[in-house]
Amino acid sequence: MCGIVGYVGARPALGIIVEGLRRLEYRGYDSAGVAVLGKDSGASPDEGLDLITVKRAGKLGNLEQELAAQAPESAINTGTTGIGHTRWATHGSPTDRNAHPHRSRNGRLAIIHNGIIENFAALRAELEAAGVEFVSETDTECAAHLLEQELANVRAELAAGTAPAALADSRAEQLAEAMRRMCRRLEGAFTLLAVDADTPDAVVGARRNSPLVVGRSEGENFLASDVSAFIAHTREAIELGQDQVVLITPHAVHITTFDGTPTEGKQFHIDWDAAAAEKGGFDYFMLKEIAEQPRAVADTLRGRLSPTGELMMDETRLTEAELRSVDKVFIVACGTAYHAGLVAKYAIEHWTRLPCEVELASEFRYRDPVLDSSTLVVAISQSGETMDTLMALRHARAQKARVLAICNTHGSSIPRESDAVLYTHAGPEIAVASTKAFLTQLVACYLVGLYLAQARGVKFADEVRAVLDQLQQMPGAVDQVLETMDAVRALARDLASSRSVLFIGRHVGYPVALEGALKLKELAYMHAEGFAAGELKHGPIALIEQGTPVVCIVPSPVGKDSLHDKVVSNIQEVRARGARTIVIAEVGDTSVRPYADHLIEVPATPTLLAPLVTTVPLQVLACEIATARGHDVDQPRNLAKSVTVE
Ligand code: G6P
Repeated sequence: MCGIVGYVGARPALGIIVEGLRRLEYRGYDSAGVAVLGKDSGASPDEGLDLITVKRAGKLGNLEQELAAQAPESAINTGTTGIGHTRWATHGSPTDRNAHPHRSRNGRLAIIHNGIIENFAALRAELEAAGVEFVSETDTECAAHLLEQELANVRAELAAGTAPAALADSRAEQLAEAMRRMCRRLEGAFTLLAVDADTPDAVVGARRNSPLVVGRSEGENFLASDVSAFIAHTREAIELGQDQVVLITPHAVHITTFDGTPTEGKQFHIDWDAAAAEKGGFDYFMLKEIAEQPRAVADTLRGRLSPTGELMMDETRLTEAELRSVDKVFIVACGTAYHAGLVAKYAIEHWTRLPCEVELASEFRYRDPVLDSSTLVVAISQSGETMDTLMALRHARAQKARVLAICNTHGSSIPRESDAVLYTHAGPEIAVASTKAFLTQLVACYLVGLYLAQARGVKFADEVRAVLDQLQQMPGAVDQVLETMDAVRALARDLASSRSVLFIGRHVGYPVALEGALKLKELAYMHAEGFAAGELKHGPIALIEQGTPVVCIVPSPVGKDSLHDKVVSNIQEVRARGARTIVIAEVGDTSVRPYADHLIEVPATPTLLAPLVTTVPLQVLACEIATARGHDVDQPRNLAKSVTVE
């Protein structure tokens, strides 16, 4: 995790970096720090640049307070090259000392890092044996010292005439070479950015297993964990490949592999606008993202049919024959994306008649799943960088399985390493708890189910079209739900002091119950659990005391009759034991009224598509309970949005 930003250009770097960090704070908020190359206004023209670093434990606001105390004309405020970091702690507690950037021993180099350097203990021992004294407990500090060593080596070779002549004229290229040499010694996952006070107008970056994108503009260039950090300045971006080093100067971007071979990244244009990453008048990003769901669902559905009426992926390197040979589907994902996968199973099995298993990505490879070239693995991830999901994907590919990614982040690792990609067009999701990404993941899962059914010839084009037409109605249905949320907000304030809330559902209502409980746990820090309604009587019903709130997700009465009636029976069972029932049911479903202490009505939808509407009140409920309990819903404690460690 961690968010990183780099800037080089003609404008003062600090404001641009801090603004970028604010956009990346969802990636971690244990500490924040910046390093700027600059010169005090009184310095003589012959003096070189200074490296100024400021870092503080806690949220970005703490760093900003510290920065506000710096004189406007000071080097940190006028320097035009710099890097910044917002941290989610892995090695070392979240203190000022462990905050990034870390300086090398001579104080001239500063480095920031996202990921984990797995061989750091050996490297640290080696450095300590050579007399280096560490000031932090981080793995990153090793990289600062190693980079200084490698840079000294490059410059010593140049002096001795043994380094490649091409390096002689450019200190920036020397810094890039030092970075390449160092990266070859590192194991694990890392995105690194470094600046050197003796190398003006340059930021060097490296990437292995963690994200890094370049933003290109006239006379200035950017590096960041994701495009939201620089979208206010440019929409032209380059995605870096695995094991690559990038050097940015105001007028150039040079990319090489770790072994020095020049290469070009994949250029792309960002179609979000900057306002999409701002709060737009809402108190929290989460509220804005909940409100954006109708549009996000519509955007994910847009343009999915080819001129000949066939469903299309965004990218596919799979042949028709490969798709037809699929005989089993695995879905791997984490957190909320895993719940989307649980819903997808019902749709995929129903529409394709293929067996479909859903697996927590963090568990997938440890149980040695049976995979071969006729297995399709669907990896779902909003960020595209979740390390557990990425490792599951790599395991699947190593076993020759085909991988299809459902992802919201263009150019991230998971789609890059997949055989086919379906992008959700949710736009940037900043709040840590996933909302609009979940709804668009559901839409994407339905599309994948239909796509497979079409490819395998088990659904006719008109049948696919009929489901697509139903899906097209869903943005309107989500809108209707959002319009009726005042009662849910009032209920939430009433529930804010509850000790525990339970959620029950059957069929696709079961993953919705899990998602409702997850939202409440992550935002309100309350005990909350989701259960398959039928399983309650086998144990969890013992949890119910007088007044325990139980949220019940009721399927459509016009779908499978027996399903609906069984859930209604389960509601009666919990109520008979004292539960306070909060019932989410289709509008006009009068059969639930006698058993509902609170009734939340949602528009009628086909059974399989119901999670698109039944999830929304649960998001609002959790958000409002958390707010009533005084929590920051955008940045819940201990969590990060993009989890790039296993
Ligand atoms: C983190 C976030 C969750 C998210 C999960 C998977 O744990 O806090 O909100 O659902 O990661 O993230 P992904 O980016 O892979 O969808």
